[in-house]
Amino acid sequence: MYKAHLFICTNAPENPAKCGHKNAEKLHAALKEKCSKMPWAKDVRINKSGCLGPCERGINAVLYPQNKWFHELKESDVDLLFAEVEKAIKADFA
Ligand code: FES
Repeated sequence: MYKAHLFICTNAPENPAKCGHKNAEKLHAALKEKCSKMPWAKDVRINKSGCLGPCERGINAVLYPQNKWFHELKESDVDLLFAEVEKAIKADFA
């Protein structure tokens, strides 16, 4: 099991009401790249997901097993999500 598994909704880029339209793919790619350089990279997984439900609050993401939700993310929120993933990893070793 991964110590942190983040799902970022990249659904429906053609639809202005959905997360994919808000550059969620770029957020996903940048975060995945950043995490891949860390010594704990094998302990995390950063996935794209389909619709997570609360589309009007997108970009949405959810971190497991912490079950922590993030809403209204922007393409530029790479560092915010990175900090959350890193915090989850470090908490696991605490
Ligand atoms: S499209 Fe992202 S939560 Fe529905």
